[in-house]
Amino acid sequence: MVDVILGLQWGDEGKGKIVDVFTPQYDIIARFQGGPNAGHTIIFDGRKFVLHTIPSGIFHRQTLNVIGNGVIIDPFILFKEIDSLREAGMEPRENLLVSRRAHLILPSHRLMDAALESGKGSAKIGSTLKGIGPAYTDKYGRNGLRVGNITSDSFTQRYELLKSEHLEVIRHAGFDYSSHLLDGLNFENYEKRWFESIARMRDLKIIDSEIFLNDNLDKGKRVLAEGAQGTLLDVDFGSYPFVTSSNTITAGVCSGLGISPHRVGKIFGIFKAYCTRVGSGPFPTELHDVFGERLRTGGNEFGSTTGRPRRCGWLDLPALKYSVMLNGVDSLIMMKADVLNPFPEINICTDYSIDGENMEGFPFELSDENIKPVYKEMKGWNTTLEGCTSVNGMPDALSDYVKYIEDAVGLPIDIVSVGPDRLQTLQR
Ligand code: GDP
Ligand code: IMO
Ligand code: MG
Repeated sequence: MVDVILGLQWGDEGKGKIVDVFTPQYDIIARFQGGPNAGHTIIFDGRKFVLHTIPSGIFHRQTLNVIGNGVIIDPFILFKEIDSLREAGMEPRENLLVSRRAHLILPSHRLMDAALESGKGSAKIGSTLKGIGPAYTDKYGRNGLRVGNITSDSFTQRYELLKSEHLEVIRHAGFDYSSHLLDGLNFENYEKRWFESIARMRDLKIIDSEIFLNDNLDKGKRVLAEGAQGTLLDVDFGSYPFVTSSNTITAGVCSGLGISPHRVGKIFGIFKAYCTRVGSGPFPTELHDVFGERLRTGGNEFGSTTGRPRRCGWLDLPALKYSVMLNGVDSLIMMKADVLNPFPEINICTDYSIDGENMEGFPFELSDENIKPVYKEMKGWNTTLEGCTSVNGMPDALSDYVKYIEDAVGLPIDIVSVGPDRLQTLQR
């Protein structure tokens, strides 16, 4: 079966940490969507790694890691990741497999992203500017280039054609890219490094990942699908248009890996004990006060990919329930409980209210103007969790917080994370 771990909020829930913790129980870890907009942090033995394209099981040499067909790849960023892991003494190319059907992010996709965002002015999405929207647009517009194309004679010609179409749009938008830097490089230098990375990709294990995964499932191998972003950034169900350009929900696993829904096993939904969001868009429980600042500082809430400060707020149960429904979650994982340690009182949003009436369901437009969160105040535990070794040994107020969420959502919280390290993970 393919088990799934994905985010139930606006991303950065701590997926990387938990995938790494779960990896010894699986034979294969597979990313199914998104691209280098993701930043998944893994901390162990006093070392910290941030992965963007490579699945988070890479630190366990006996486990294979698949970049699935639903992922979009910027070869330059992929090799930056590979090289930084090699510098740290690992050889990720040994247990990394890449789908032939995964689409490529071109340097001009990144320019398009910047041009389109700058054209939006105050309505901008707050994209990570990794070229995600334009690359998925070309995929669905049937113009894209795929990993399997890199060995073809016509690759450069097709690249040039697509690039010239992009540059035409960029010129039309009046965007001057001559001084625009991509990861510190101007366009020409980035393009040069991109082509060097394309050449290096030929040495990677490029496979038909849908066949590989189904064959391995037939043999009884255990697969874990690793989500990127979060449910509230899903292109269909997130806070559109302030979303990413892929299906981040369980349904994305089937199309992003080429496996049948019959093969989907246990679905783990991961959320922070509070909420964060990076980039623009509605966020009903956002705190603009000292409490928000305390969450940001205490939780080190700065983007893993862009370094931007993350917006912070209280836990939002109406949104969490909606996410659980969309994904068919079986088991909940709550992250960053330790960040709430200093709070004597903690709020949980139990309902949304519009004009003084509690709302049923989840709104079409998640607007900060109309929707007012209804809060329940809970007692904080107001103590360190350092001595805690299991869910059963948690302070009473934290157990009450967990129980309240479990009852509201109707699912067990099987893991509570109390720090960024692999070992700071309390399991039932
Ligand atoms: P991802 O994108 O879902 O993998 O999450 P990110 O890596 O972008 O962000 C999660 C951040 O929280 C990282 O800096 C992690 O090291 C950190 N983190 C994960 N779990 C915990 C936890 O339980 N407590 C604290 N304090 N930090 C955590
Ligand atoms: P992980 O996997 C948090 C956000 C961006 C922006 C919107 C669209 O680390 O949880 P895009 O680059 O996709 O065009 O940006 O989505 N976003 C994320 N926020 N975590 C992520 O990934 C994100 N990936 C994209 O900030 O608001
Ligand atoms: Mg992240």
